[in-house]
Amino acid sequence: MVRVSSLAGTVCLAATAAAYDVGLKQFPQEARDNFNVLKYLGGYGPYVQRESYGIARDPPPSCEVDQVIMIKRHGERYPDTDTGEEIEELLDLLYSSVSEFRDDLAFLNDWTYYVPNACYYEAETFTGPYSGLADAYSQGADYGQRYGHLLPKDGSVVPLWSSGYERVINTARKFGEGFFGYNYSTGAALNIISESEAQGANSLTPTCDTDNDSSICDSLTYYFPQFDVAAARFNSQNPGLNLTWGDVYTMMTIAAFELNARASSPWIDAFTADEWVAYGYSNAQWYYYCAGPGDKNQNAVGAVYVNASLTLLNQGPEEAGKIYLNFAHDDNITPIIGALGILTPNEDLPIDTIAFGSPWTIGDIMSMGGHLTIERLKCNATVATEEGSYVRLILEEAVVPYFSCQSGPGYSCPLANYTELVSASLPDFITSCNVSASYPQYLDFWWNYNTTTDLNYMTGPLGCQVTETLV
Ligand SMILES: *[C@@H]1O[C@H](CO)[C@@H](O)[C@H](O)[C@H]1NC(C)=O
Ligand SMILES: *[C@@H]1O[C@H](CO)[C@@H](O)[C@H](O)[C@H]1NC(C)=O
Ligand SMILES: *[C@@H]1O[C@H](CO)[C@@H](O)[C@H](O)[C@H]1NC(C)=O
Ligand SMILES: *[C@@H]1O[C@H](CO)[C@@H](O)[C@H](O)[C@H]1NC(C)=O
Ligand SMILES: *[C@@H]1O[C@H](CO)[C@@H](O)[C@H](O)[C@H]1NC(C)=O
Ligand SMILES: *[C@@H]1O[C@H](CO)[C@@H](O)[C@H](O)[C@H]1NC(C)=O
Ligand SMILES: *[C@@H]1O[C@H](CO)[C@@H](O)[C@H](O)[C@H]1NC(C)=O
Ligand SMILES: *[C@@H]1O[C@H](CO)[C@@H](O)[C@H](O)[C@H]1NC(C)=O
Repeated sequence: MVRVSSLAGTVCLAATAAAYDVGLKQFPQEARDNFNVLKYLGGYGPYVQRESYGIARDPPPSCEVDQVIMIKRHGERYPDTDTGEEIEELLDLLYSSVSEFRDDLAFLNDWTYYVPNACYYEAETFTGPYSGLADAYSQGADYGQRYGHLLPKDGSVVPLWSSGYERVINTARKFGEGFFGYNYSTGAALNIISESEAQGANSLTPTCDTDNDSSICDSLTYYFPQFDVAAARFNSQNPGLNLTWGDVYTMMTIAAFELNARASSPWIDAFTADEWVAYGYSNAQWYYYCAGPGDKNQNAVGAVYVNASLTLLNQGPEEAGKIYLNFAHDDNITPIIGALGILTPNEDLPIDTIAFGSPWTIGDIMSMGGHLTIERLKCNATVATEEGSYVRLILEEAVVPYFSCQSGPGYSCPLANYTELVSASLPDFITSCNVSASYPQYLDFWWNYNTTTDLNYMTGPLGCQVTETLV
């Protein structure tokens, strides 16, 4: 007799018999429909991790991270001012058309809008489990554990860089408080890089005025027949309503933003999974054609950050420093993903059908608080890999390897190969975007930064419907 422990307790079995709990599986066989609505909120809803390829997030056992370069979108926010106006108009229309809502919209009889007043438009949310400020703080704390070994031991100041937009700046600050902990007030120096076009290439938010190709971006309608189905359903359930597909689109946007401020949204359940799939894809089209590889100039926009980060990686931690934390907007990060070439589909995204299975699946690329992290790994030799420096790209906390370069530990790419691979396809921002010769021609702020802590905290009240705040 041998004693074998099992989940049911310790049992005695004949030596020849294997333990078997009838019905108990080591692995579940259900994946349901693999449906999490957060993947279909089209960049407007709470942060959600990217689906992993199964590659461990921690560095491979033979390696340690010796340099990290991150760019993060601001955290979950309220709608911007224009979207807020559309939402308010739609709510007015609904409440003036129907006195008692039924069926899918019955919740509207006692629902209240989640934006306390117009001053909160554009800003980070701060309530509920998906709060934008909490997202920034908790990712900062997470990264503090993951990358805190890279902080200088002598207490010297470490810079952080934010583009000059209030919600982005506040994200950087909260992240910094999480990352640096008690040392944030004296150990971090927030640098604010203006979003002005006059920054040229010395910017986290470069712009491209040469976008003159009457691109598909301008002609996207975002229409899918699933939105008509929802409109017809609501109209038949609620006499007096005459909603269009465009109204439905706005209603889905109301749902997405509600979760940024509240634990749950009854709007989400008013739509079917099929309708959410269409909504997610219509937003994927926007990112692809307006801020991604589907636009002829956006890879050149992303090339600014990619080129400068190549310099950091090749200078390495001794010459360049170890920690580069940056904060900007969604449409500053998707061009970088385009320039890196990791998720570019072989064919342009179709307009009127959904590209199921496309690598450009926006729920896995960009949500509020979305971020792209570049790790430089210092690795010892293994039986399969040489000692040396390697690079890994991590998007929404999942490792994204290159098809053509994954020979390193943990499917990483040797630094020299990464440099060659990425530089080979990097367009030139200055010529592609016809950047004025009087503007800065390359990114310089990573090498020339302030070490003052003056900007580390918000000093006044929240700006009200401002578009650019410098302090
Ligand atoms: C690499 O090898 C050195 C020397 O043996 C050792 O000190 C270091 O911890 C190793 N690094 C990793 C990540 O295992
Ligand atoms: C804070 O900075 C001091 C030096 O000023 C250093 O000794 C300490 O380890 C730092 N703490 C953390 C958590 O980084
Ligand atoms: C650096 O500090 C100077 C002086 O306080 C300030 O004018 C400038 O805006 C700061 N630059 C950045 C990038 O924060
Ligand atoms: C648009 O800009 C490109 C340069 O990127 C130029 O070659 C082309 O002629 C321009 N097209 C129009 C219609 O201005
Ligand atoms: C609903 O609106 C459409 C225009 O969007 C109009 O043609 C139609 O007559 C309206 N139907 C009702 C019942 O008001
Ligand atoms: C790439 O970056 C380096 C250093 O950061 C800079 O000198 C060079 O001009 C940049 N090249 C382009 C094409 O921006
Ligand atoms: C990396 O570069 C070396 C030298 O050019 C080459 O021999 C090797 O095949 C490359 N490996 C990958 C994975 O690209
Ligand atoms: C580039 O910009 C200059 C002004 O800075 C303008 O005169 C010229 O027409 C632009 N070229 C293109 C191709 O847009």
